[in-house]
Amino acid sequence: MKHWTLQRDADGITWAILDKAGASTNTLGAEVMAELGQVLDECDRNPPKGLIFKSGKEAGFIAGADIEEFTTLDSPEKARALVQRGWDIYNRLAAVRYPTLALVRGHCMGGGTELALACRYRIAVDEPGTKLALPEVMLGIVPGWGGMLRLPQIVGPAAALDMMLTGKNIDAKRAKRMGLADECVPPRVMENAARMLVLSGQSPRELPFMQKLMNGPLKSMVANKARDQVAKRASPRHYPAPYAILDMWANYGGNALAVPVDKPTSLDSIFVSPTTKNLVRVFFFQERLKGFGKEAGSFAPRHVHVIGAGVMGGDIAAWCALRGMTVTLQDQTVERIAPAMARAAKLFEKKLRDKKLARFALDRLIPDPAGDGVRQADVIIEAIFENLEAKRALFADIERRAKPSALLASNTSSLKLADIATALQQPQRLVGIHFFNPVAMMPLVEVVAGATTSPDVAKQAAAFVRKIDKLPLPVKDAPGFLVNAVLAPYMNEALRCIDEGMSPETIDAAMLAFGMPMGPVELADTVGLDVAVAVGEQLVGGNDAPKKVLELVKAGKLGKKSGEGFYRYVDGKAQKVGAGGTAPEELAQRLVAPLLQAAKRLVEQGVVADAELADAGVIFGTGFAPYTGGPLNYLQSRP
Ligand code: NAI
Repeated sequence: MKHWTLQRDADGITWAILDKAGASTNTLGAEVMAELGQVLDECDRNPPKGLIFKSGKEAGFIAGADIEEFTTLDSPEKARALVQRGWDIYNRLAAVRYPTLALVRGHCMGGGTELALACRYRIAVDEPGTKLALPEVMLGIVPGWGGMLRLPQIVGPAAALDMMLTGKNIDAKRAKRMGLADECVPPRVMENAARMLVLSGQSPRELPFMQKLMNGPLKSMVANKARDQVAKRASPRHYPAPYAILDMWANYGGNALAVPVDKPTSLDSIFVSPTTKNLVRVFFFQERLKGFGKEAGSFAPRHVHVIGAGVMGGDIAAWCALRGMTVTLQDQTVERIAPAMARAAKLFEKKLRDKKLARFALDRLIPDPAGDGVRQADVIIEAIFENLEAKRALFADIERRAKPSALLASNTSSLKLADIATALQQPQRLVGIHFFNPVAMMPLVEVVAGATTSPDVAKQAAAFVRKIDKLPLPVKDAPGFLVNAVLAPYMNEALRCIDEGMSPETIDAAMLAFGMPMGPVELADTVGLDVAVAVGEQLVGGNDAPKKVLELVKAGKLGKKSGEGFYRYVDGKAQKVGAGGTAPEELAQRLVAPLLQAAKRLVEQGVVADAELADAGVIFGTGFAPYTGGPLNYLQSRP
């Protein structure tokens, strides 16, 4: 076999080790699955006392199906055959008479999780990288290799549907708590633990009575409730997969192949839905953006110095510390740094869910009012007020004190990088690293190359962005870069609609129905109406600037931050009343048109290298409806 090795140990246990040839991660393509058949053939001929699956890769256990292979399928029949292949072999694995175990260390996704579910036992190794998930729904597909059958049997339908309908990751401790893993053990004892458990004869954990009912006679009730929840987030027209998962689980025993082809929840319907193609496209965008982080050779930043502990700087510093960097955070006074530290402590608790780890993260974040960190830092990020002279003076000083190899970056949204760079002796050192608000939620970071930025520096900036687990998008130093330059005309159009007398509720409802995460009027309120006006003036300009927004700003109604803008805010929530007026679909088309045109123009102007990257940037930077495959894909495929 090319990808699997079988080892029989002294206890009579067979270890099946997957180490996919010529790849850094294990994926389950045709060859690997065919060889899994051979593994089972061999065990039939010569039954072991137990069979343990483990990975030969450092990177993790199994990353899931081979998505490349998935894109080569050109007919629903081929898609069915691929599902059948996995469904059959995992059923065969689940039926063997000797005990089986999956030893999961690192990522375990999709088909990898389904393999683990087909084993009698599962051990999750307690490491930060261990994550189990069924993320198929995010690609517009379904866990068709037995996940929909077995996960609800093992963890109960509520937890199973939550995993399958959101695609969320489960860490090792949580996997143990919810019964997805039988044990959660530290790496040093994992092999012994696996040996003991596989030979233990222990019967698999039983579901509590109520959960059994929910996975039996009460199935359709549970499914209806879940369907209502899904409907709040995604329409079946845009996202058929979650509805298919519910139907397959509730009515077809989790067998995707059993749904009649003409049903909207069948594999065939999903296969021909443009959403599936587009979500797979979005998956590859992500891979492409990640690739920009791999071009900087040995650059391995460890210490980040952030200047400006405001809305952005504070959150950037916290994020870097969360991702393992040592961070010094500078502002004019300790008092200005304190709120950022408090926000960071909350973020660490929420994200790490472990007091000790949260403490370590907080220890990595060091208030530094004197700016001593500049001398040691590998990356220096400026996030002070948006004022050219202040930034120029700051960088001239930083350049004198920083290590010659340190990356000098500005988070500016609207200043020209080249104008800041002339304050430096070596302007080629300055790069833009432009985060989005809220930092912890937005996956994209624009890496801005100014006229003078050295290509190597831009590559290092992208590598740093990857290092903190964000997606870098290289852009040119043009007003608004990509993301703000497409958002501004879209929001402007929304504010014009307000001037025409439409209600904020109608406008926002139209865009929510289109699939945006938030309507443009609420977005303007969230960004701050003063900021929205300033950005609009800079990026859209013209004589017919929206008027109502100016009145609100004059009256001190700046949006969410002041408690009132277009909406009133109670506990941070916009108070919306009803919705009516123009048909949302037409209105959505009117609102989105300036965004689509802006994206097209920015590609033509070379602000972003190609249409794919524009689509990627707008999806990851604004949440633009992913089912469309991005604005330019939408523009092209729209009837
Ligand atoms: P902010 O006003 O919340 O924070 C700025 C902080 O910088 C203040 O705490 C201030 O005391 C400090 N500061 C000013 N001059 C300083 C100096 N010489 N030395 C040390 N600290 C100094 O501003 P915000 O919103 O965080 O923006 C910062 C930068 O980030 C700006 O360049 C802005 O364009 C950019 N940005 C803002 C976004 C946003 O949504 N607010 C989004 C993306 C970028």
